[in-house]
Amino acid sequence: MKQKVLVTRKPPEHILQLLNDHFELMLWDCEEEQIPREFLLEQISEVDGVLCLLTEHIDEEVINKGKGLKVISNLAVGYNNIDVEYASSKGIMVTNTPGVLTETTADLTFALLMATSRRLVEASDVLREGKWKTWSPMFLTGMDVYGATIGIIGLGEIGAAVARRAKGFGMELLYYNRTQKPALEQELGIHYVSKEELLRRSDFVCVLTPYTKETENLITLKELKTMKKTAILINTARGGIVNEADLVTALTEGIIWGAGLDVFAEEPIPVDHPLLTAPNVVALPHIGSASVQTRTKMWELAARNLIEALEGRTPPHLVNK
Ligand code: DGY
Repeated sequence: MKQKVLVTRKPPEHILQLLNDHFELMLWDCEEEQIPREFLLEQISEVDGVLCLLTEHIDEEVINKGKGLKVISNLAVGYNNIDVEYASSKGIMVTNTPGVLTETTADLTFALLMATSRRLVEASDVLREGKWKTWSPMFLTGMDVYGATIGIIGLGEIGAAVARRAKGFGMELLYYNRTQKPALEQELGIHYVSKEELLRRSDFVCVLTPYTKETENLITLKELKTMKKTAILINTARGGIVNEADLVTALTEGIIWGAGLDVFAEEPIPVDHPLLTAPNVVALPHIGSASVQTRTKMWELAARNLIEALEGRTPPHLVNK
């Protein structure tokens, strides 16, 4: 008899086929609508494994309902939506999808950095709204990228990929990380500094660290006040790493110059949220890894993790300690 698996969003056809070959599937058959919590709680009690998204909170309540649950396969590299400690205590494997999204997320991070510094969204709106009167010297002027200093908080795979792009743009490179990375320092000429020095010296502060208890509110008003008045904050990691109320204060009071944000504490961010009307903010709907190629690879890897785990082999990307 086939094992049962819950998939919390409609996968591409070839993934559906692959999963169907291995398992009896329970599927939340929507592409753009989240599985209702009640439905998740009901279905989880029936299955051996779940392939879920970062939109699902796999907490104690869900895990307790999953009496026969053996594996939680997350379609993301981040897994802050899952209580890994509790899952581990119940002997449940948790897997993620690192590697395949590194370059795509670094591309988006850099695109956001460029868009924010050169005011691309605002400039495009000005043109479309018929507000472009004439070429004028200081019209829509932004901040230089070439020659500027970038400070990367969290020099993991994505951080390193962003650093490579920054090097190509002739930037000076700083980083702050839990551990020092001598090989990357050698390869990229990137310098390890304290968080305080990074904030003080950087023109662009890029948040690329995982979201954990330790990194929650890593950037508050204190850190924002340490940054240059002309500096830009970029966050493509997780919203909760930056205190959003403090960021609104910093932007409206001119404590920093701008922010490029792909992630928010609450997603979707309410449209009347003050961050969306604060000056010099480019806001995106969590699209860091959103290319057709990468999202397809993420599905493939999440499916592979699930299959390996339920067929008794070690899945390629196990996150339990
Ligand atoms: C992740 O994988 O954690 C991203 O936020 C979505 O790709």
